[in-house]
Amino acid sequence: MAYETIIVKISDHVCVITLNRPSALNALNSQLVEELGDAVTDAENNHKVRCMVITGSEKAFAAGADITEMADKSFVEVVAKDLFGSSMMPVQNAKKPIIAAVSGYALGGGCELAMMCDFIICAENAKFGQPEINLGVIAGIGGTQRLTRFVGKSKAMDMLLTGRFMDAEEAERVGLVSRVVPEKMLMEVTLEVAVKIAEKSQISVKSAKEAVNRSFETTLAEGLLFERRVFHSMFATEDQKEGMSAFLEKRDPQFRDK
Ligand code: HXC
Repeated sequence: MAYETIIVKISDHVCVITLNRPSALNALNSQLVEELGDAVTDAENNHKVRCMVITGSEKAFAAGADITEMADKSFVEVVAKDLFGSSMMPVQNAKKPIIAAVSGYALGGGCELAMMCDFIICAENAKFGQPEINLGVIAGIGGTQRLTRFVGKSKAMDMLLTGRFMDAEEAERVGLVSRVVPEKMLMEVTLEVAVKIAEKSQISVKSAKEAVNRSFETTLAEGLLFERRVFHSMFATEDQKEGMSAFLEKRDPQFRDK
């Protein structure tokens, strides 16, 4: 499909979606959000894709929702359109894993998009923030909820109430990102990680993702039961037999997603 605000490339079973509105630091306008949703849906439906990566430019992952597009909207319009509601569902509901590779600014909706992915790898120049407070609004794509779960109440309040940016070192220290790498290495490292995930059984990968996400929605007892039942169910798969046989036979497993 021909996109104007993103670039999509698939290789080694990894679909890399690059946000590409450099003149606005990849601000999320309606066209970009729609194209991103379409690209993620396509990747979900493409059996060749086993992992996705969402990234931006060296200067900006995304500097937030597009303020130019939002500024004049009325309350009735944003409610009627469910602004950033259903349009973000393809990313939020993806079953395949999505890694956010963040360089530069990930602000407002950009930070929220990164947090909507399964985990974040960032470059040393990354800056995360929820500066919506400076615009007379608040985060609206999960910032108050996901950031709090990532970094705890104190840091989340600090970020959301002051609008300050968090650098890469702090982001790793507080658990917002899984790894920090030099800028030039960001895509190389992220692709290595994505390819590693793509080599696993898709059944295990999707199940692990589902179980981790369940932990945010339920009690510990229910979550543990869910995990155990999913674990049990895997003994019905060929990939469980293959994975364990391969270990015992001291060879690499050949997973077939069955
Ligand atoms: C529209 C944006 C933009 C945005 C940057 N630009 N961010 N346009 N929406 N969110 C545009 C600028 O207007 C400018 O366009 C160009 O990108 C380059 O930006 P500069 O400001 O000149 O760059 P710089 O001085 O390096 O500063 C970078 C920056 C700053 C610190 C990231 O651009 C900034 O503060 N941006 C806004 C960040 C923000 O408030 N995000 C939250 C948005 S609200 P021109 O044409 O002048 O060159 C949000 C709500 C989500 O995300 C929830 C919705 C429901």
